[in-house]
Amino acid sequence: MSGSEVTGSVNLEDKSGEPLSLPLISGTVGPDVIDVRKLYGATGHFTYDPGFTSTASCDSAITYIDGDQGVLMHRGYKIEELASKSDFMEVCFLLLKGELPTAEEKAKFTHDITYHTMLHEQLTQFFKGFRRDAHPMSIMVGVVGALSAFYHDSTDINDPKQRMIASYRLIAKMPTIAAMAYKYSVGQPFIYPDNELSYAENFLHMTFSVPAEKYKLSPTVARAMDRIFILHADHEQNASTSTVRLAGSSGANPFACIAAGIACLWGPAHGGANEAVLTMLEEIGSVDRVQEFIAKAKDKNDPFRLMGFGHRVYKNYDPRAKVMQETCYEVLEELGIKDEPMLKLAMELERIALEDEYFIEKKLFPNVDFYSGIILKALGFPTSMFTVLFALARTVGWVAQWNEMMEDPGQKIGRPRQLYTGPGERPFVPVEKR
Ligand code: SDX
Repeated sequence: MSGSEVTGSVNLEDKSGEPLSLPLISGTVGPDVIDVRKLYGATGHFTYDPGFTSTASCDSAITYIDGDQGVLMHRGYKIEELASKSDFMEVCFLLLKGELPTAEEKAKFTHDITYHTMLHEQLTQFFKGFRRDAHPMSIMVGVVGALSAFYHDSTDINDPKQRMIASYRLIAKMPTIAAMAYKYSVGQPFIYPDNELSYAENFLHMTFSVPAEKYKLSPTVARAMDRIFILHADHEQNASTSTVRLAGSSGANPFACIAAGIACLWGPAHGGANEAVLTMLEEIGSVDRVQEFIAKAKDKNDPFRLMGFGHRVYKNYDPRAKVMQETCYEVLEELGIKDEPMLKLAMELERIALEDEYFIEKKLFPNVDFYSGIILKALGFPTSMFTVLFALARTVGWVAQWNEMMEDPGQKIGRPRQLYTGPGERPFVPVEKR
């Protein structure tokens, strides 16, 4: 594994009672890992870690998170710097290739992505098979999975060129598919990509323009959209990225792997939380009901959780939530939306929660999903589209992690074991004797 070295060992006993030493491996930064690959062979024991709270599933050079410090870096660049000084096309290049692009590299990459934004015309038929009120995430899972039925020239996972073409196609076509899912739900005609526009501008154009009039693009809105994409681009081995890696480890084609990632992201504990935050804020309705919902969130017998709060890794403020909050102000200001009630309610909810002993003791802070829904609503997206936008932006992270796995010579199929708790062996009982 490049970038890591054995820096010590941990002592256990093997099957014969002899001391067993397991290697301790250090990466560039962050916790060391105990290499347990030989543990079962030497001891006959498995490790046990449901939810993978203490397990590194791979080594990766793409993203680093320090949950205690609230730090997120992509290839060594802090998210705050990328969000304020870079743009989504540069971040896509950085995640995929490991370095920020030169001006020439950026121009070529942007051109290549732009010229893959159109969908095979027959794919538009897929949308017509869905009910108009289908959740757009169900359409995304279906249509993205179906891409493997159209782009056979980029499904050979052993050909690096085909892997990269498939990666470019997925990054390029997700905005087109997402916009089409929205258009289908509101009964408006699909709008084709416009190669003169930037990635974020093109997505806004395909989503909100209509043939009857020229669409007025707001540079501030386009900049905010681009920044929201950056904030959602990648996040180490989260549930959906781990899903993509596990699907890819069997040799499944990239379109099928990304469809699996979209399906996993949909859950309200993961990417579906941005939609759930807005639904929760609408249910709370006003500041005077905040305490009632904080009490529900703290009640062990109540399944309610404060959506947009808490994180498996961040035990401090999610750095993306801070940038998202700042972007929220900018967008509402630009759109002339004063005193947005949802924003005021969210800020009061955050203030009360962060002063509450339960949230302090459990280190529950706002995460990336807490403010994103308020901005997306202000930009004109229906709540059902929020997780679609998360999937759109996360596609580059998924394909970057998938490529990293496919390029790893030591890569093998992921196959976890278990602690069996079912019945021991017992004789079959014929039905007449049961
Ligand atoms: C994303 O992994 C990633 O990187 C994901 C993500 C990415 O970019 O890919 O960052 C995107 O998914 C962000 C998270 C969005 N989800 C939500 O906002 C949903 C609400 N949050 C929770 O469901 C929860 O915080 C999780 C799922 C995010 C994390 O859950 P964990 O790590 O499994 O933590 P846990 O459930 O063990 O909680 C620890 C304690 C528990 O109390 P005890 O059992 O110890 O008494 O904290 C409590 C939980 O009950 N808790 C909450 C809470 N989150 C955790 N209590 C109330 N409200 C919450 N939101």
